[in-house]
Amino acid sequence: MEKSRTIRYREYDSLAQLPDPLRRLMEAAVAAADTAHAPYSRFRVGSAVLLADGTVVPGSNQENVAYPSGLCAERTALFAAAALHPGVAVEHLCVVARDAEGRLVEASPCGACLQVLSETRRRQPDPVGVTLWLAGGRLRQFDDVDSLLPFSFQQP
Ligand code: THU
Repeated sequence: MEKSRTIRYREYDSLAQLPDPLRRLMEAAVAAADTAHAPYSRFRVGSAVLLADGTVVPGSNQENVAYPSGLCAERTALFAAAALHPGVAVEHLCVVARDAEGRLVEASPCGACLQVLSETRRRQPDPVGVTLWLAGGRLRQFDDVDSLLPFSFQQP
């Protein structure tokens, strides 16, 4: 039996079109990119998590000379949120990056970050939205992380 699944998302032409509080969340992600420690890739990723109580938790990629020891911006923010605000649901994650020339560019969460985001989702009743910065300043928004990783690993 063949089955299929549709991925629904919306796009905005610019940050100005994004309604608050997500516009401010994306602005926090842009600011967070400046806190990246990325001397090896020179690719600075910024993220920001919006919690159900309105708290914004920023994150950025933190690299290390022993390369696998570093961490992506998304997991930095998600783990910080869980550690600093235990039990408070995550409503939304924004992600953006700056290339070596300082231009704002697209950054879509890697598989490991999606797996962590997926578990964040399963720890709470409500969905976790995701908004990504795209080339040219456009934005792509998903209402729930399940759209990005529909068949995530779960321990049976
Ligand atoms: N990176 C992130 O922070 N988030 C992603 O979703 C993809 C990649 C980081 C890891 C590394 O520090 C740099 O970007 C280049 O891969």
